[in-house]
Parts: sequence; C-alpha cells; structure tokens
Amino acid sequence: MAGDGTQDKELSAEKQAQRGLKGVVAADSRICDVNGEIGQLIYRGYDIDDLAVNSTFEEVAYLLFQGELPNSSQLSDFEKQLSEQSELEPPILEFLKSLPRETPPMTALRSAVSMSGVYDPQAEDNSPEANFQKSIRMTAEMATMVAAIRRLRDGLEPIAPKPGLSHAANFMYMLNGEVPSDDAAKAMDLILILHAEHGLNASTFAARVIAATLTDIYSAITGAIGALKGPLHGGANTEVLRTLEEVGSVSNVKGWVDGVRARKGKFMGFGHAVYLVEDPRAKHLKELSRRLSVETGDARWYEISVEMEKDVRALINKPVNVDFYSASLQHYMGIPGDLFTCVFAASRIVGWCAHVLEQVADNKIIRPSSNYVGPALRKTVPLASR
Ligand SMILES: CC(C)(COP(=O)(O)OP(=O)(O)OC[C@H]1O[C@@H](n2cnc3c(N)ncnc32)[C@H](O)[C@@H]1OP(=O)(O)O)[C@@H](O)C(=O)NCCC(=O)NCCS
Repeated sequence: MAGDGTQDKELSAEKQAQRGLKGVVAADSRICDVNGEIGQLIYRGYDIDDLAVNSTFEEVAYLLFQGELPNSSQLSDFEKQLSEQSELEPPILEFLKSLPRETPPMTALRSAVSMSGVYDPQAEDNSPEANFQKSIRMTAEMATMVAAIRRLRDGLEPIAPKPGLSHAANFMYMLNGEVPSDDAAKAMDLILILHAEHGLNASTFAARVIAATLTDIYSAITGAIGALKGPLHGGANTEVLRTLEEVGSVSNVKGWVDGVRARKGKFMGFGHAVYLVEDPRAKHLKELSRRLSVETGDARWYEISVEMEKDVRALINKPVNVDFYSASLQHYMGIPGDLFTCVFAASRIVGWCAHVLEQVADNKIIRPSSNYVGPALRKTVPLASR
C-alpha cells in the first residue's frame, strides 16, 4: 500500500484499463471504415480514392448525412440549402467582431458555433429531420465563420457568401476576397472531401459522447471543436508548415533531419496511430501541392516537402500522413498556417454531424467505468485534528 493509503491492486487482464481506449471497439457504425493495414479509407462503402475523383464535397456531405449519394434533384436541393444558410446571423458577426484580435482562431470558431445554437429556433429539437437540417446549417455556416475569423484577425471586413458558387469556391472567395480559379476551388473541394470523416477519432468520439446524453447537437459540435483544437489531434499540419519555413531550402533538409534525429525529436506529418502504410489521403494532397507549385511558380515548398519525405522515410521508416502535404498545399492556396485546423473543422463538421445523427437514431448513453486505484476505505478526521 502506498503512503496515502492507495492500494496496489492486482487486476485481472480484462479489468485493466486500456490506456487511451486504443483498440477498444466503442460503437457499430455504418459511416466509415479506416483500414490501417492496407491504407484504405471508405465512406459509406465508397473508397475515398473513388470519391476524390468522381464527387464533390456537397455530394460527399449528403452521402455521409443520408447514407447514399444524392440523385441530381436531391443534390441541387441540398446545394441550394447549403447556399441559402451560409450567411451568418448578424449577432454572430457582431460577436466575432467583438473578440480580441489575438483570439486563437479555433477558440473563436468554438465560441461562434456555440452561439449559433442560441439563434437557431430548432436548436432543442432532437428529431432526425431537425438534426439533419441543423447539420446542413452548421456545415454551411462553418465555412463563413472561418473566413470571417481570418479576415477580422487581419483587420479586414468579412465578405458575405456569393450565391451560385460551390461550397468550396465560396469558402475560398470569402477567405481571399476573389473568386478562385477552377484549380484552386478544386483543391479546396478535395481538402474538404478528404478531411470530412475518419471514424472514431478523438473529436468525433467526443461528439458522440455528448450527443448520447440527448442534449442538443450544438453542444456536441462545440465539444468536438474543443477536442480537435488540441495539438495531439488537429494541429499537426500547422507544425509541418512551421517546419518547412524553418528548413527554408532543399539544401538544408538533410542537416535539419539529422538534427531532429540527434535530439530524438518528432517528425511532424509522419506516422499514424491507425495506418501502418501510407495514409490514403496523402497522395491526393501531394499531387495537388505539386500542381499548385507549378501554377504559382514557387516550387520551393513542394520541393522541400519531397526531399524531406525521402530523407525521413529512409531514416525512421514511417510514411507521411494526411497533414504532411496539406501544409504546403494550403500555403500555396494563401491560407495562413494558424488557420489550418479551422479549415479541417469546416470539413470535419460533416463527419461529426453524421455521427451525431447515427448516435441519436439508436441511442445508448456512453458511460464506461474506471478501476478505482485510490485510497482504501478510511474515516474522516475532525478538521481541528488534521
Ligand atoms: C501520429 C502518432 C501520434 C502516432 O503515434 P503512435 O501510435 O505511437 O505510432 P507508432 O506506434 O507507430 O510509434 C512507434 C514508434 O515510432 C516513433 N514515431 C512515430 N511517429 C514518429 C515521427 N513522426 N517522428 C519520429 N518518431 C516517430 C514513436 O515515437 C514510437 O517510438 P517510441 O514510442 O519508442 O518513442 C505519431 O506517429 C506522431 O507523433 N506523428 C507526428 C505527429 C503527426 O503528424 N500527427 C498527425 C497524425 S494524422
């Protein structure tokens, strides 16, 4: 027994806590399959490689929410709803304007989403139809919020959404103030498709735990944003960009890689908790990064990335993950590094909402137990005697 009376309990294997719940199956889900051994990611039965080439973000969002790809009238109706709901309520814009300039973008986003629930008359309606409507509304609003956060932080007026643009093109338009080229809009569309869903990752699990209490969907999404904000989850691509900037040129890569190895540091953008082979999303982002490096006439960030991938892989035998090439890609698209996690959230909102819809449709409160390893039973000592 330890000095504070803590018992050193011998626990049978099945009673021992699984740290981080690694390998624990916590739900049956029809939404997504992540196969880490062969590097395959499937949304509702469709391989991400297939969706990346043959669908738009709007089609993927509908698929994740509803279980099937839309037909053309379902798609145009869904696109119309997304477009109509992308404008922010005036109090939300005023709230974002009132925040201190140095507010971290994810903190601003988390608070704005929470506040958006205040102005949604359907917020407390947990019926499947109301939750579907709210999922569309949150997906629509999130891109507008992220763009407004970026512009206000830079001392610029937010830009209202432009009817007639795709969701991805509108997002770019509101971020940068000009209608993007077809290639730039396609790049954003692909980023949104590839980040939309990834099984029971930390933020999605958080959303399901919150939703399972049968509270409102805004509470679940606010909690998910809080989880994504953590550096162990959504922040790695920001770190990759920082690394590329620190390295600065292809000729510095080898020295930098050796330096990280010598101090036993981590190579950001390499390795994955589930994928044992290359993350299936990475090759799409790499190809887009290459294309934009040619289009912008600024090959430096792509070339440093390629050299780093080669050297690090040879050294630690870990392939790149989704965050590695998304850093140079988003940099080419003019998105500042500290906004990368917000762009991630503007896509993952779809996966979060799909999981909330699934959880509420067949709900059971999520309440695991813990092994008590604290002090053995004891009596209080009167205050004067302690
Ligand atoms: C993603 C990550 C957290 C997965 O961690 P994990 O599940 O423990 O991964 P593994 O079981 O493959 O790790 C085995 C060993 O390789 C090391 N390793 C894994 N990724 C590494 C990396 N990027 N750089 C250096 N060493 C790494 C680990 O430190 C571990 O060694 P140790 O525990 O003896 O120190 C980890 O790969 C990492 O930190 N990557 C960098 C951050 C990143 O890119 N995150 C975004 C993920 S999408």
